[in-house]
Amino acid sequence: MARKSTRSPYDFYPTPEYVTRALLDSYPPKTKWVIEPAAGRGAMVKVLQEYGYKVQAVELVSEYAEETAKLGVPISIGDWRELCARADIKAVLRLNGPWAIITNPPYTIAPDFTASCLKLMDLKLDSTGIYRTKSNIGYLALLLRLNMLAGPISTCWPRIWDRFKPTAIRSLHIRPSFTGKGTDMCNYTWVIWEQDRPPIDFEVIPSSRKCIRCRECSSCRKVEI
Ligand SMILES: C[S@@+](CC[C@H](N)C(=O)[O-])C[C@H]1O[C@@H](n2cnc3c(N)ncnc32)[C@H](O)[C@@H]1O
Repeated sequence: MARKSTRSPYDFYPTPEYVTRALLDSYPPKTKWVIEPAAGRGAMVKVLQEYGYKVQAVELVSEYAEETAKLGVPISIGDWRELCARADIKAVLRLNGPWAIITNPPYTIAPDFTASCLKLMDLKLDSTGIYRTKSNIGYLALLLRLNMLAGPISTCWPRIWDRFKPTAIRSLHIRPSFTGKGTDMCNYTWVIWEQDRPPIDFEVIPSSRKCIRCRECSSCRKVEI
């Protein structure tokens, strides 16, 4: 029987501060410029600022965005998947940088959201097997559920992992609570892609020919990667 869950509207789940600190202490970006593309009320932005990063935020819900703006960061209101393809946003990204993208994405659209970040980052393997990019984005870190690294075919994850293997994985030992009311029994991990590094040796083993690269999956075709 399918498990029913009631998710917060727009997948708003503020990230406990120590989760962002764990990333920044363990595997910080080398740049000072960070985009937070699903900023919510600014829980991650606050920690990024504390570590000295210059943040550009994006948030879908204006009420949340207004609160993040109070932290003194520039914020664009809208759907990241559309905004990141727009010429004016690309122009902003060319002004400073190189940029890192760091967020805890909305999970109901996480594959799509991840694909948008990866497309913007535009990593290409060179002849020695190292990721290079001509974009101004050299680092991407997304907080994901550990089980997304396997991902049932219907979630599109295997297709993303096949096309863009990450360069580092930093799993959290403690299960965070995003609601203040205990954990959701899931383990979480930072998944990182960084330029000038090789992808890790990682594969989701397909359970049948049909599953390979999700060619047969109607759901996957929704995520262009
Ligand atoms: C899991 S919460 C994380 C919030 C914030 N990053 C944090 O860690 O506290 C996801 C956030 O993404 C926002 N969101 C949902 N869909 C979005 C979209 N298409 N583009 C940008 N933000 C979106 C939600 O409103 C919510 O604030």
